[in-house]
Amino acid sequence: MYNDNPTLEGLNKRIDEEKQGEVFFKESAAEGEKFFYIESYGCQMNFSDSEIVASILAEAGFQATRNMEIADLILINTCSIREKAEETVRKRLRIFDKMKENRPGTLVGVLGCMAERLKTKFLDEEKLVDMVVGPDAYRDLPKLVSTAEDGDKGINVFLSREETYADIAPMRLDSNGVSAFISIMRGCDNMCSFCVVPFTRGRERSRDAFSVVAEANDLYSKGYREVTLLGQNVDSYKWENPESKEVVNFANLLEMVAKVHPDLRVRFSTSHPKDITDEVLHTMAAYENICKYIHLPVQSGNSRVLDLMNRTYDREWYTERVEAIYRIIPDCAISSDIIAGFCTETEEEHQETLSMIELADYSMSYMFYYSERPGTLAARKFEDDIPLEVKKRRLQEIIRLQNQVSFRHNKRDIGKTFKVLIEGDSKRSDQDFKGRNTQNKMIVFPKKDGLKPGDYTWVKVQDATSATLMGEIVEK
Ligand code: SAH
Ligand code: SF4
Ligand code: F3S
Repeated sequence: MYNDNPTLEGLNKRIDEEKQGEVFFKESAAEGEKFFYIESYGCQMNFSDSEIVASILAEAGFQATRNMEIADLILINTCSIREKAEETVRKRLRIFDKMKENRPGTLVGVLGCMAERLKTKFLDEEKLVDMVVGPDAYRDLPKLVSTAEDGDKGINVFLSREETYADIAPMRLDSNGVSAFISIMRGCDNMCSFCVVPFTRGRERSRDAFSVVAEANDLYSKGYREVTLLGQNVDSYKWENPESKEVVNFANLLEMVAKVHPDLRVRFSTSHPKDITDEVLHTMAAYENICKYIHLPVQSGNSRVLDLMNRTYDREWYTERVEAIYRIIPDCAISSDIIAGFCTETEEEHQETLSMIELADYSMSYMFYYSERPGTLAARKFEDDIPLEVKKRRLQEIIRLQNQVSFRHNKRDIGKTFKVLIEGDSKRSDQDFKGRNTQNKMIVFPKKDGLKPGDYTWVKVQDATSATLMGEIVEK
């Protein structure tokens, strides 16, 4: 879900995979051509936004390149979620500064959450940045580029209550030609005390349901076989049809997308434990192509800490939701986000987070230690009082236990046969394919003639690590 140290590896991987995608990346420039280069950090929303940015720039006459050296415009789509994410971005900006020394005309633009958080401060701190553009201002990019070309600084960090970019067809950058993201909402109205997102992304708003279905249809017709519906809190999706006044909730939307085609897999992220309804779970159970996997971040296993975090559920509520998932969708896998060492967390409370990993039987988790973010409720109200060594030790304990639980989870799959959507060659060998089963587990298996990425096949699992399943194609 989340990428703290992404970039070049991911980027190069994408260049290889581009053969199957729709975007043609040029590596050298001819007279009169204008190029943009974009790097993305942070959550899937940001990667999805970069595809909207690419589409807006293409419309304005820019072409995409993976070669920074020929770019007229270097863009970095940034994340503020933890201090480390912001440090990574600043390091990249140093590198872009060097580039500018050799090619003084190159413009550098900062997009996304860090642009929104720091606003004009960015221009004071980073002298060589030419543009600062918040997540709701991307339509303004062509104008801001002209401003910067004229030698002024281009800035727009206005947060909108309506913008969903519903009418913009994203230009697929990160594409393997098989799976794609569809953004269904923007912003977040929850005020988790540790979190900067409500400040960087603004108020929650849902996108026109029909535009979501149209995008899924278009992807299917282009050969894609999996879509992931994205939002910070997808369960609170709510869109009112302006004509019929009918309200579409998340369960309704899931069903609409599932009906696009039985061979189009539907995933979604992120679910909020307070909002995930039985209606959503029953819809998932009713459609084979809605994947049996829920990312349900717990953050902490202790009710007092959850209250301080302002998550608006407690351990009992979360446990009940987990039980409901396993009752209604017995083969569902659940994953989580966990924060170690939030303000005032005691050892006993930390132990409750560990026991939640066992209880919920997570297939995997994204795990972090608490990083105080300026301006958040927690930064204003609570002291960041857990020493760094203690945070790191607790995080290590969480990671160690999650690895054991993941390994156990995966070992249970040995001997089972799964329907797998082939995504491409495995990382280690071009003799093997990789793909996922409905529970979002990666399976690696020897290739068979006639099969290609985007095809479904049946794979029997023979071996497992804590991260991957290994198997063999079988007839079903
Ligand atoms: N909307 C999603 C989460 C988005 S941020 C949700 O509500 O679940 C992704 C994850 O980053 C969060 O789930 C949380 O675990 C982590 N995170 C957010 N703020 C953080 C902070 N200040 N320090 C450490 N981790 C943080
Ligand atoms: Fe942040 Fe909470 Fe919103 Fe998730 S639900 S984005 S953690 S405020
Ligand atoms: Fe980061 Fe913004 Fe996403 S802060 S996690 S890029 S919403």
